[in-house]
Amino acid sequence: MLQDKTILVGITGSVAAYKAVDLIRRLRDAGATVRAIMTSSAERFITPLSVALACGEPALTSLFDQPFSHIDLPAKADVLVVAPATANILGKFANGIADDLLSTSYLVFRGPLVVAPAMNWRMYEHPAVKKNLATLLAQGASLVDPQRGTLACGEEGVGKMADVDAVIEGIRIALAPKDLAGERVLITAGPTREPIDPVRFLSNRSSGKMGYELARVARRRGAHVTLISGPTALPSPSGVTTVRVETALEMYTAVKERAGGATIAIMAAAVADFCASEQRTVKAEKQDMSLLQLDRTPDILAAIGALENKPFTVGFAAETGFRIDRAERKMVDKRADMMVFNDVLQEGSGFDTDTNVVTIISREDGGVLRKEHLPLMSKEAVASAIFDSILAHKG
Ligand code: CTP
Repeated sequence: MLQDKTILVGITGSVAAYKAVDLIRRLRDAGATVRAIMTSSAERFITPLSVALACGEPALTSLFDQPFSHIDLPAKADVLVVAPATANILGKFANGIADDLLSTSYLVFRGPLVVAPAMNWRMYEHPAVKKNLATLLAQGASLVDPQRGTLACGEEGVGKMADVDAVIEGIRIALAPKDLAGERVLITAGPTREPIDPVRFLSNRSSGKMGYELARVARRRGAHVTLISGPTALPSPSGVTTVRVETALEMYTAVKERAGGATIAIMAAAVADFCASEQRTVKAEKQDMSLLQLDRTPDILAAIGALENKPFTVGFAAETGFRIDRAERKMVDKRADMMVFNDVLQEGSGFDTDTNVVTIISREDGGVLRKEHLPLMSKEAVASAIFDSILAHKG
């Protein structure tokens, strides 16, 4: 998404200015062209040389360095991101004050604005700052929330600039088309964990990466997203309501509670098919061969498929071998509208990878199944392709 985009980074006077250098490098690594404007206060914290080395282009600091830079830079930019953004620049942007290169460029710019504020917590709470931020948000700007932490002054509070990952996610959100606006997307992800006794459990190798990527992409494209996640090592995607569960039964309950309002349900979790019949409260002895008496877990996808007013329902079928026939059978049996098949034995596909090779199975008019084979792609690109396909079939 950042490939071949031109990003104009504004850097203002905060101790967090050093993070802008890392931000610029990461944006360039992702394929973007980056130009930077520094305010005179920013120059007190980092040098234009550091910023120029990160950008591969001079960092501009004055309206008068190059004539018309306040016209040319914004005209070429796809997005303007101000990180860190001081109370001063938010006030200037909100009130149309144009007294330096950054504030003047803002008035010329017509694309999406992303701001990552950084300031003392009292300043961030001040009604004047809140009003200026509200004005910018009402005009369509995206806010990357500052974090709570120990601030430069030594005080504790909300005002630390968000980390660079969150700023990049803010840029991706600002650049994405909002073709899922109005959709309420319910996603399951990760494995489930079925306890046998207090130290043992049944589970599987799912990392949750595919489901989390689906949540992130849906949110970027404007959907309201709820992610029901089994145990994973992944952080909650920003702007997504994440509900953490452990067992298949807990996942089933969490999904049933939220399925009513959903317009799209994507069951990407690798739900354990069995749980221990009896939950022991003390550790079982190894000679106890009755340890693994198993029961079936509820089938969450089938339960959604059986709802009267079901959302557009998507299932996943992770198989060993090119068993599309099994995916098709599951699609019919569980009354899913779409199935995403992958062969976990194929190179670049399956558990804990950042890529996947999938076939999307959908229904054409008349109920005939249609298969769309996708090449090896990042899980982010697979997630985008799944939503493109959902939009094409949802009606
Ligand atoms: N699934 C579910 N609840 C379960 C089991 C599976 O919601 N208890 C969903 C998965 O999230 C996935 C789809 O069903 O979207 C396919 O899961 P899979 O385990 O492959 O299907 P099964 O019917 O269990 O088939 P089998 O174990 O025979 O492969």
